[in-house]
Amino acid sequence: MVNIEKKLVNYIDGQWVLPDRNNYTAVVNPATGQTITKVPLSTENDVQAAVKSAKKAQKEWALVPAPQRAELLYRVGSMMKERKEHLSRLLTMENGKVLEEARGEVQEGIDMAFYMAGEGRRLFGQTTPSELKNKFAMSVRAPVGVVGIITPWNFPIAIATWKSFPAIVAGNAVIWKPATETPIMAYELAKIFEEAGLPNGVLNVVFGSGSDVGEAMVADDTIRVISFTGSNETGKNIASKCGMKLKKVSLEMGGKNAVIVMDDADLSLAVEGILWSAFGTSGQRCTACSRVIVHKDVKEELTERLMTEMEKLTVGNGLDETVKVGPIINAGALEKIDRYVQIGRQEGAVLLAGGYTLHEDKEDAGYYYVPTLFTDVDRTMRIAKEEIFGPVVSLIEVESLEEAVEINNEVSYGLSSSIFTQNVNQVFAAQRDLDTGIVYVNAGTIGAEIHLPFGGTKGTGNGHRDSGLAALDVFTEWKSVYVDFSGKLQRAQIDTEQ
Ligand code: UN1
Repeated sequence: MVNIEKKLVNYIDGQWVLPDRNNYTAVVNPATGQTITKVPLSTENDVQAAVKSAKKAQKEWALVPAPQRAELLYRVGSMMKERKEHLSRLLTMENGKVLEEARGEVQEGIDMAFYMAGEGRRLFGQTTPSELKNKFAMSVRAPVGVVGIITPWNFPIAIATWKSFPAIVAGNAVIWKPATETPIMAYELAKIFEEAGLPNGVLNVVFGSGSDVGEAMVADDTIRVISFTGSNETGKNIASKCGMKLKKVSLEMGGKNAVIVMDDADLSLAVEGILWSAFGTSGQRCTACSRVIVHKDVKEELTERLMTEMEKLTVGNGLDETVKVGPIINAGALEKIDRYVQIGRQEGAVLLAGGYTLHEDKEDAGYYYVPTLFTDVDRTMRIAKEEIFGPVVSLIEVESLEEAVEINNEVSYGLSSSIFTQNVNQVFAAQRDLDTGIVYVNAGTIGAEIHLPFGGTKGTGNGHRDSGLAALDVFTEWKSVYVDFSGKLQRAQIDTEQ
């Protein structure tokens, strides 16, 4: 049996503290509809307390040698490894994703810990010759200071590690607002940091809503970076407010990802790739496949095979290891998915499978949507263009790779894309021409690894990346250092003549 606290509290300055206001909201297990704990709805005052502690802590943390800061991440990674099963079960209970996927997500966090710990002995800058004699030139990465991270419910631990681990190893202090739907992972990760010996104030967790806690973080002048993953609308709001303050902001905001299936594709493999990336996490991934762009010569066969395999997908509570597709996060999300399915029907798309909720007559029975497939979808339809964030896939027929790429690229997002083909020429043309931050060949649209940059083009982001070395660019400033040891004033660009 997994033990969960009845009420969560904030973690500020190394202490577990009650929120400013006695105001909480329920955390619901989406598989059962039952409340599993309560999470504080904090205020600006809680954010201010976190800022105060972070500011003080960061000054000292920045002076700890980076390899020592990294030691802490190694400990955090080891502890996550020891607690992997416990964390995974809790993750399934608060988010709903099936246990196997929950284990994968926790593993992603462990990987990030060890990867970023390794960076503690690198954090490379450049050394370069000076244009002047007896002068030394180099660039170093300096921490930005106090950073704010805002994380979503669909990957409550992995995305938090993508952001907090590079920030911490680079010498920043962090204020973290996790999604109120999934605060347990934040609570557990903060406990791990505490036990691993992180100095007080280097990581602060403030639970609450975007409109109170998030807005207060954006408005605060001490917080110099906001790293956000979530909806496009919220991202734009954050970016515009940060823009006025010249605050650095890194955004990751979803996708309308496509799998392209060419006429020479290994169709069994393509079906597996589509099923995994469309219905994994019940389609609630930024990288989920929601369009299949298929060559007309294989459309019929692919459709038949997909329908056969979809029938085998069991929908239910993710703690049951025979279940393949877990619940949807909450009633609102369920309604949104169903609304899109109705829109698809009205637009004239043909519904081949799914298209309905499960257990809707029972109270407290969780939020489930049956894997759904539309065919004869036209590229101009809303279901072909807008992010649904659920287990709904649209089949779009094409006649050539050029047409497939054009359709892939014409949506307003640009996160992930995939192509199934055996033709090396098509592979290289596609990876060049697909306008997304991530391209997969002969694999679905999900499954990013943590040591590569994660993010996308157009409406998906604003040019920054999570994960990989790119994450360090978000949480550091470049500092160029010139040391003149000539003993005289040497003017750059002028005293260069011998
Ligand atoms: C997300 O959907 O927001 O590549 C993150 C993947 C996972 C991460 C997804 N490793 O699908």
